[in-house]
Amino acid sequence: MSKPNIIILATGGTVAAKASDESTSTDYKAGVLSISSLLKAVPGLDGIAKLSTEQIANIDSSNMSDELWLKLAKRVNSLAKSPKVDGIVITHGTDTMEETAYFLNLVSHTNKAIVLTGAMRPASAISADGAKNLYNAVYLAADEQARNKGVMIAINDKIYAARDVSKTHTLNIDAFKAQNSGEIGYIIDGKVFFSHDPVKLHTVNSVFCVRGLKKLPKVDIVYSYANDGSKVAIDAFLKAGAKGIVVATSGAGSIHENSKNHLIKLLKAKKLVVVKSSRVGAGLVPLGKEDEEQGFISANDLNPQKARVLLMLALTKTQEGKEISKYFELY
Ligand code: SIN
Repeated sequence: MSKPNIIILATGGTVAAKASDESTSTDYKAGVLSISSLLKAVPGLDGIAKLSTEQIANIDSSNMSDELWLKLAKRVNSLAKSPKVDGIVITHGTDTMEETAYFLNLVSHTNKAIVLTGAMRPASAISADGAKNLYNAVYLAADEQARNKGVMIAINDKIYAARDVSKTHTLNIDAFKAQNSGEIGYIIDGKVFFSHDPVKLHTVNSVFCVRGLKKLPKVDIVYSYANDGSKVAIDAFLKAGAKGIVVATSGAGSIHENSKNHLIKLLKAKKLVVVKSSRVGAGLVPLGKEDEEQGFISANDLNPQKARVLLMLALTKTQEGKEISKYFELY
């Protein structure tokens, strides 16, 4: 049987980092090594797939931008259309990997496997995790079972659905978790095991599309905290052109009255779309009758950074609160 064609799109991150010596795992610059040099550290990939590579960017993923997302998504869609591509692996920094994965999950119109991976330790560190993660990601992308699963993250031997996963530790190699639903599978010695499918709409069933899109509507995030002063930030975001705000509420949708009353005024004046997420990290945000009347939208169980992604894409379709709310139920 012929080997699947897998293309690796490299964007940078710690997986492509080199520190001053082997014992250093925190003080380094992310996104310096090329994908071809990373592949040299991964033996045996040629036996699994016919590999090709493309260096899309080489950045620390904390510098990810809407522009780069659009570029990456357009490239993914064009490659996925080709009969010469069976699966796509994207190397990425772990800091914003979950956001890029969810963005691609919503705008990549293919049932071919798209797998993001990265590393928590630089390539030069003792016990660097990048080579194994890349190895697993290629195995996953080459596996027939990985089709129709939406965009996935393969890291630390586990497989996560893009919508559900988030980075939950600053340094540990077991940094990724899907707090509400768990991983959808795992990879052991080149064998892929799935336990369940993601249930929300994605990829071929998504209405969102980047074709012809030059920029994304501006959406910002405000954070709730004791003695909340984010009214100032809300006004500044609005002045800078924000069409939507995601609030990282302090619990199951609670916002300090300082900013809540201000948001209610802006909602009434139809100046903004406001989505309530939570800073807690697990669980969903229910909406009370009063919230609905005031025009707030629930992010469901999406964390604030993911809710921002969906709200930007929703705003490419509509400004209508009820329709946007529906998107948050479906995606
Ligand atoms: C980054 O996100 O680019 C740096 C951190 C990492 O990849 O772990």
